[in-house]
Amino acid sequence: WEVRCGAYDEELVATANSIASAGRGILAMDESNATCGKRLDSIGVENTEDNRRTYRELLVTTPGLGQYISGAILFEETLYQSASDGRTFVQCLKEQNIVPGIKVDKGLVPMTNSNGESWCQGLDGLAQRCAEYYKAGARFCKWRSVVSIPGGPTPMALRDCAYGLARYAAIAQEAGLVPIVEPEVLLDGDHDIDTTFKVAQDIWAETFKYLADNKVLFEGILLKPSMVTPGAECPKRESPETVADYTLKMLKSRVPPAVPGIMFLSGGQSEMEATLNLNAMNQSPNPWHVSFSYARALQNSVLKTWQGDASNSKAAQEALIKRAKANSMAQLGKYDP
Ligand code: 13P
Repeated sequence: WEVRCGAYDEELVATANSIASAGRGILAMDESNATCGKRLDSIGVENTEDNRRTYRELLVTTPGLGQYISGAILFEETLYQSASDGRTFVQCLKEQNIVPGIKVDKGLVPMTNSNGESWCQGLDGLAQRCAEYYKAGARFCKWRSVVSIPGGPTPMALRDCAYGLARYAAIAQEAGLVPIVEPEVLLDGDHDIDTTFKVAQDIWAETFKYLADNKVLFEGILLKPSMVTPGAECPKRESPETVADYTLKMLKSRVPPAVPGIMFLSGGQSEMEATLNLNAMNQSPNPWHVSFSYARALQNSVLKTWQGDASNSKAAQEALIKRAKANSMAQLGKYDP
């Protein structure tokens, strides 16, 4: 009955556990060229390939980063770029014991006949691309699909999101890449925290059904959930303790302990909010390593400090270390503002 390919099983488990190691988390720096352009635009820097490379060089060459960061997710362009001293970005990361990862989905497109929802493209040619990325040094990957609440998620969109994630995860594992499974529940809307809780339960139930159907090795995946919070426009805000209670209750009812790591996305939370919420989640033992895979909540103050000016690079790297260290402490449940 067992028809899994399984050639990389041991390596997948080892990679997943190395990323889910105590006091460390993931730096998400896999913004597509368009999204990276938005970030650069916010500091008045033009969106050219060289400016994107220069900015990413600053991130991957930050001294001491490996103490707090175990994995970095790159965009395809970045996977093949090098620092000005000639070292590839992949080398720079590996020298710091940071596992290089790669975003492999092809982005979101509108879903016909839905409540204004999206579906995620990228399964075509995925096996070949994963094999190429493995050769280039990547050892894990990410596929981001979304669930949106304001119009009410349709069963069709939930199923498509879950099934796409499961197909992707199986293909990635066959190529030796640890898949990050990310059904992001978007924050947009004025719904309360109970509504988010219900939708999160629904999407994770479907996701694990299809992961199991697709014979995905649970010990060799990582999850990237949204925290369970009220919608961004909901007037009633919740404390980190409440967010942690809801989020852990949801995860404990849906996610098997075989999964090594839960690496939250920040989803538009402020840097401080994201750190405090993670710290609250780690106040008592969890069945998994509960950590971060933040983009904005690690990079916002780096960008602000850098401003596209080389003379600010050192200060910008210090800003990155400050956030990485704060989140490392939060992973250990010991963050003290
Ligand atoms: P944020 O932490 O900015 O939400 O980004 C994480 C990410 O990679 C979303 O897929």
